[in-house]
Amino acid sequence: MEFETMAGLKRTHMCGTLRAENKDETVTLTGWVAKNRRLGGMNFVTLRDKTGIVQLSFNDQSDRSVFEKSELLKSEYVIAVVGKVLLRTPENINPDMKTGEVEVFVTELRILNGAETTPFYIEENIDTKDVLRLKYRYLDLRRPDMQRNIILRHKVTKIARDYFDGQGFLEIETPMLTKSTPEGARDYLVPSRVHPGKFYALPQSPQLYKQLLMLGGYDRYFQIVKCFRDEDLRADRQPEFTQIDMELSFCDIDTIMEINEGFLKRVFKEALGVEVQTPFLRMPYAEAMERFGSDKPDTRFGMEFINISEEVKNCGFKVFSSAVENGGSVRCILAKGLGSSLTRKTLDSLTEYAKTYRAKGMAWIVVEEGNLRSQITKFLTEEEIQAILTKTGAAVGDGILIIADKNPVVYDALGNLRLEVARRFDLIDKTKFNFLWVTEFPLLEYDEEENRYVAKHHPFTHPMDEDIDKLESNPGKVRAKAYDVILNGTELGGGSLRIYNTELQQRMFAALGFSKEEAWDRFGFLMEAFKYGTPPHGGMAYGLDRLVMLMTGAESIRDVIAFPKVQTAAELMNGSPDYVDPKQLDELSIAVTTDTDKNE
Ligand code: AMO
Repeated sequence: MEFETMAGLKRTHMCGTLRAENKDETVTLTGWVAKNRRLGGMNFVTLRDKTGIVQLSFNDQSDRSVFEKSELLKSEYVIAVVGKVLLRTPENINPDMKTGEVEVFVTELRILNGAETTPFYIEENIDTKDVLRLKYRYLDLRRPDMQRNIILRHKVTKIARDYFDGQGFLEIETPMLTKSTPEGARDYLVPSRVHPGKFYALPQSPQLYKQLLMLGGYDRYFQIVKCFRDEDLRADRQPEFTQIDMELSFCDIDTIMEINEGFLKRVFKEALGVEVQTPFLRMPYAEAMERFGSDKPDTRFGMEFINISEEVKNCGFKVFSSAVENGGSVRCILAKGLGSSLTRKTLDSLTEYAKTYRAKGMAWIVVEEGNLRSQITKFLTEEEIQAILTKTGAAVGDGILIIADKNPVVYDALGNLRLEVARRFDLIDKTKFNFLWVTEFPLLEYDEEENRYVAKHHPFTHPMDEDIDKLESNPGKVRAKAYDVILNGTELGGGSLRIYNTELQQRMFAALGFSKEEAWDRFGFLMEAFKYGTPPHGGMAYGLDRLVMLMTGAESIRDVIAFPKVQTAAELMNGSPDYVDPKQLDELSIAVTTDTDKNE
């Protein structure tokens, strides 16, 4: 087929924008053919662009050549049309289409390009394997739901720029070829040609640069910035992702929270039309763990933890009594009204679920009319059973799910069980956006593998003033001036006030097990900088991808990233990462030592 050009034609409207008000206007449209249907002596073609779809009509009674050409149109052909906007007759109005009141009667049709049959339909909510969608990502991106996500992402970044600019923040770029900043993941390294054997690290975040910008006197900085972390991927993680990153001087935590609440309020209002209540609830880390077993609790539903350690510490059921004796605890959740759904099969599968979080098992009590269904009540006295029922407030029809273990296991297993029960029994109100600040995080956590303390947030976080003296004597008990913002159980962002003097920074590195030499070797430039008039400062960073994922209701951050990577950190469309020419490796003084199978 001979294709035509746009010569002499200029688009006047986007497809999705036509309304009844455009009646009788002559319009020029461009786009992709979604469908072509023959009905009597008419052809109806739906034309799609990023704004939506509109119906085109072709009549065999008018211009015969235009009509015949329209018969050639197949899905995904690229066309330009000139036509007149007509109102549809009342019985033909399509209330499901924004343009459903009109159609465009075409007087000129140009076929600009053809298309082969696509590997999947270009339409909403297709049921196609992700692998296929990602291999043909450019076609996937043409689907309306993907386009909505990407457009929303644009809106969010635009609002972020406007908002932070309005608050006196300057957008300043920081280097991509840099030195490793410890944010807890592995670095992506880039070899240097001119310094054989040396490597840049791609930034895990602009953390140190933004702190140095505060030293530079910029007062308020923000950046929408790519970050790189070589870590295990999950639904809410990508090896390269985008942060909305900010930092400000001369501020306290309240100011940072206020500014960021203002940002989230505005984003949700302007991009989604959702009114978010501020200020957000604030919850210290210890309370979040005690109530939900998680530092990112989903507060859209209840089922908070109930500690029954006191009630069962002396009981005859060894699993319970020895957990308490060994410094652990026995905690449970009350599945209100779910008793009859907690069949043996369901309870067994919930037990298996809890075991994936290292629990040794799950005990349960289901309160039935005149009876308790349970595998453990036979080991308990009447008083102990009564005490559990009283503490939990369980009534007929309720189920109690119990985990006994060391506290970290109880928190993790019961916390995840709580989420799983909520998911299985549909207890989560999906229309809610529940924001929450979690505050007063531990500064350090003990890493069993490395046999030393590691920073819970990062090594530049300021300890809480009242805990500083414990930095050497009891590091595990030091709390940090750190905070995370949580939305519906996902960590959207996090930040802290920073250390801003050399001596405290040195003490922090020492607590992390760095010798003075090691600390100066890696971070000397920062500690040196602190000597020259450092303002007190702090900030935070959001995961933009996560924010947009939660705003769109997408299941994975892949659905809000134009060209994402899969679980193995590969890009299926272009096949990266890939082997390179040995000549390139030579230039970089790199020898690959692993056996590679180029045919893999
Ligand atoms: P943090 O490491 O908490 O803090 O990162 C901030 C936010 O970035 C998002 N995020 C990710 N999103 C997608 N894929 C990933 N692999 C990934 N890793 C992190 C999360 C997270 O909350 N420099 C500090 C911020 C500061 O202290 O100002 C930092 O990077 O939403």
